[in-house]
Amino acid sequence: MSQTPKTMRAVEAGTVDGKPAPVLHERPVPEPGPGQILLKVAATALNRADLLQVSGLYPPPPGAPATLGLEASGTVVDTGPGVTRWKLGDAVWVLLPGGGYAEYCVADEGSALPVPKGISLVEAASLPEAYFTVWTNVMDRCRLQPGEAFLVHGGSSGIGTAAIQLFAQRGHPVFTTAGTPDKCHACTQLGATLAINYRTQDFVETIKTATQGKGVDVILDMVGGDYIAKNIQLLKTEGRLVNIAYQMGAEVKINFLQVLLKRLTITASTLRVRSPAEKAAIGRALEREVWPLLNGGKIKPVVDRTYPLEDAKAALERMAASAHVGKIILTI
Ligand SMILES: NC(=O)c1ccc[n+]([C@@H]2O[C@H](COP(=O)([O-])OP(=O)(O)OC[C@H]3O[C@@H](n4cnc5c(N)ncnc54)[C@H](OP(=O)(O)O)[C@@H]3O)[C@@H](O)[C@H]2O)c1
Repeated sequence: MSQTPKTMRAVEAGTVDGKPAPVLHERPVPEPGPGQILLKVAATALNRADLLQVSGLYPPPPGAPATLGLEASGTVVDTGPGVTRWKLGDAVWVLLPGGGYAEYCVADEGSALPVPKGISLVEAASLPEAYFTVWTNVMDRCRLQPGEAFLVHGGSSGIGTAAIQLFAQRGHPVFTTAGTPDKCHACTQLGATLAINYRTQDFVETIKTATQGKGVDVILDMVGGDYIAKNIQLLKTEGRLVNIAYQMGAEVKINFLQVLLKRLTITASTLRVRSPAEKAAIGRALEREVWPLLNGGKIKPVVDRTYPLEDAKAALERMAASAHVGKIILTI
């Protein structure tokens, strides 16, 4: 790594004028440990978790860098001991426990995938967090079966735009919710069978009508609150619900009788704290099942807007306002 500088620009959670804000620092370039690669970062992408981290509500897990950023794309410029999958110069997209908002970052080799053809290095930064999260929750936890009906809430989010494309491509009827007519339109363009404006329509009634009263088999939910009871109402017998966030609250009163009568499974999970081995297993499943769809142009990155790293604050404000469709990117 002879041409790699000693220090780099990196953005961490801090304060400006006493208020929580992303702050640009000069930090040492990290060194790859055993099984890790060092990337010269081309781009990183925003996640809602970054907003929580900036406001001090979601500190990085033990061992993770203080630098913001759960995903990145870039070029391998150094490898740690024992790395077998990658060599210098490889172009990859990586899932990170932190560290993406920087000129260099280290990643576990199993959390990296090659950049598919037809996708630019910058666009590739939009892929890791969404596809790792969607795959492990819908496939590993909820075991979506061929032909089953699927609902993802927040269809225009980074997570939603990935889930709609992936499961529409895999032949599932895909239902979704979004907050404006334009966002609903974007969701149907991506392959959703039906996109419901949650501000003006009742998603339970609308989906029940569209499915002749049957409902759906699997729901990926990031809303929580009163959606938990509504999701239970909408699930078919043997249906599965997975929550990846509780934006509208995690404490609700639920009548569990329907769970018993319909033999439902209710689960939830978070990705960031999982071990490198668990993330590598998800990565290999993505390489087998999702990467060919990306490489063949069947699934496309959905990039809302790109900002330079120095404008991280403006980019995070766009996310906080939910003005985006797909992923907001920071270029380095
Ligand atoms: N557990 C995990 O491992 C994990 C991993 C990644 C992400 N997540 C979570 O997944 C969520 C999406 O992440 P992201 O980074 O893709 O964020 P994002 O793009 O900001 O998405 C947030 C989404 O929530 C939707 N939403 C808010 N209230 C809603 C409601 N009442 N009904 C339907 N949709 C509603 C928003 O829809 P509108 O804009 O239309 O209002 C928006 O699409 C976040 O909450 C994030 O924390 C969890």
